[in-house]
Amino acid sequence: MTQSPGQGQALDNLLTESRTFPPSDEFAAQANAKPELYEEAKADREAFWAKQAERLHWDTKWTQVLDWSNAPFAKWFVGGKLNVAYNCVDRHVESGHGDQVAIHWEGEPGDSRAITYGELQREVSKAANALASLGIGAEDRVAIYMPMVPEAIFAMLACARLGAMHSVVFGGFSAEALRTRIEDSSCKLVITTDGQYRRGNPAPLKPAVDEAVAGAPSVEKVLVVKRTNTEVAWTDKDVWWHELVDAQSDQHTPEAFDSEHPLFILYTSGTTGKPKGILHTSGGYLTQASYTHHNVFDLKPDTDVYWCTADIGWVTGHSYIVYGPLSNRVTQVVYEGTPNTPHEGRHWEIVQKYGVSIYYTAPTLIRTFMKWGADIPAKYDLSSLRVLGSVGEPINPEAWIWYRENVGGGKTPIVDTWWQTETGAIMISPLPGVVSTKPGSAQRPLPGIGAKVVNDEGVEVPHGGGGYLVLDEPWPSMLRGIWGDEERYRDTYWSRFAEQGFYFAGDGAKYDDDGDIWLLGRVDDVMNVSGHRISTTEVESALVSHPTVAEAAVVGASDATTGQGIVAFVILRGGAGSDAGGAEAIKALRDHVAKEIGPIAKPRQIMVVPELPKTRSGKIMRRLLRDVAENRAVGDVTTLADSSVMDLISAGLQSGKSED
Ligand code: WT7
Repeated sequence: MTQSPGQGQALDNLLTESRTFPPSDEFAAQANAKPELYEEAKADREAFWAKQAERLHWDTKWTQVLDWSNAPFAKWFVGGKLNVAYNCVDRHVESGHGDQVAIHWEGEPGDSRAITYGELQREVSKAANALASLGIGAEDRVAIYMPMVPEAIFAMLACARLGAMHSVVFGGFSAEALRTRIEDSSCKLVITTDGQYRRGNPAPLKPAVDEAVAGAPSVEKVLVVKRTNTEVAWTDKDVWWHELVDAQSDQHTPEAFDSEHPLFILYTSGTTGKPKGILHTSGGYLTQASYTHHNVFDLKPDTDVYWCTADIGWVTGHSYIVYGPLSNRVTQVVYEGTPNTPHEGRHWEIVQKYGVSIYYTAPTLIRTFMKWGADIPAKYDLSSLRVLGSVGEPINPEAWIWYRENVGGGKTPIVDTWWQTETGAIMISPLPGVVSTKPGSAQRPLPGIGAKVVNDEGVEVPHGGGGYLVLDEPWPSMLRGIWGDEERYRDTYWSRFAEQGFYFAGDGAKYDDDGDIWLLGRVDDVMNVSGHRISTTEVESALVSHPTVAEAAVVGASDATTGQGIVAFVILRGGAGSDAGGAEAIKALRDHVAKEIGPIAKPRQIMVVPELPKTRSGKIMRRLLRDVAENRAVGDVTTLADSSVMDLISAGLQSGKSED
């Protein structure tokens, strides 16, 4: 426990964590990244990135590493030309690795498929020929609305091969969400499936496309992969993948495109307003995706089996299933389904089956595994795992420790990777063979990346202080804008610290006494209690450090005395006794927070709930919990993964048992 450094700070630093885990000598000795990487980047940042770009095959070499003269619009590897799909597929076949498995695909119902680089090259070439036959060429936009089937990856790479831009829309989104995204970037083609498996059952997908396309005149064709054999309505725009693609030649010559040629658009909804089409380009993006994947996950292409559990509908799926890993000649697992279908050990069964050595997932799933209980992973042989990763939210120290102990056998380094859709690739993370990891901290900017924590005036805060996380140097995989909205790009990311020229990410963060960075959640969520600016993350982490709690979300609600009071929503762990939600137990939790952080952070109220409202990518929607805490009607729930959750929470509250 520490003292709060006092009032008036952008964000108070309340929680301390003293556990550290140095890499074993054995791990450090074999690691891809050595301590010199930091030195090298510091000595000459542009030369450093030029060296990283050499990881790729360039048809024409660049003449300038970075052109930042038109800030905030960067150009990286100016004058260079490359083909992104060639870099992810063909060159591995040419170097003699055509028989290496690229993708061990595991379907939800238990079907599976091993796809070699040779086969991937043929599939991507056929798909590229098929897309070209539908009139798709450079800079056309293609919407991909699919479950996690191999064709989704073939489709993305086929677009990249042709220089067309893909816009992947998560398969769980509604017809209306799909329509607005298709419309915003005038997609010419939609690629989809007849249906998708959801928790063991086939569910239709194409009807949503039909509805969206009916209101989106830019769409000329819809290419449909047969996945579930679900009966589908057919329109004159529809073409079956197996009819068109399978009839194509499996030879296709990739064309080299400019380093700044657009690669994809990915929509991110953020907390307010219409979704933003985040634009990424080719050479810089692929360089950073490849560099980070190699160094942060320590990938050894000849021996590792890598698994990132994200959906390709999110940027994590773009950068750490498709582009980074394939550019590094990975052998990876791609899993179609949910983690508890048909049972709660499904992920561990897959790790055991394929001998997965690197596993990358999100804190929301780790906390779900905690809730299900440690006895489940204990039933499987997880000894192949050697690196674990986390992304998407701050990971609470307790969840981190649980992950290391119960999944990592108490030995694996855990890389907590901070980045965003906008940053394109990992920005802040420990290097697993170099840095002693700390549970809950993303620690330090990667070599070549500039990030710091600043106060309201943009001045860096001292060690032990909290504030805003900013990026103070352009980076290769940075977004190149918001599709069709230059003004919004400048406003959203570059106006808060315009004077300093910082990119402001929207996250609160702090330095610990060693200068390591701890992410503290979105600044919009910060609570103000008696003048103390308290981060949601720290109070949530304190709650999760109690043995009965699996997950926690806290929000600030108006309070006549303190300005805001802290209201906590907690989910109990699988093994917690039936009295764990009783008045005594809740008092114990409040006291626990007071002991871990200080009396200032003691929740005014704690409610035990069965579920928390989350977005489809697993982020807690504190906005809705604030509505509950303030006794208001609950607002827009359309981006919730499961809209019945708010009913469950309200029902639980009416029973009265969870009031403190
Ligand atoms: C926001 C970006 C990056 C891929 C998935 C999310 C939060 C992300 C961490 C982390 C703390 C994190 C931030 C960020 N976030 N990773 N390791 N620790 N917070 O992409 O949907 O664009 O969300 O996710 O708040 O700004 P995204």
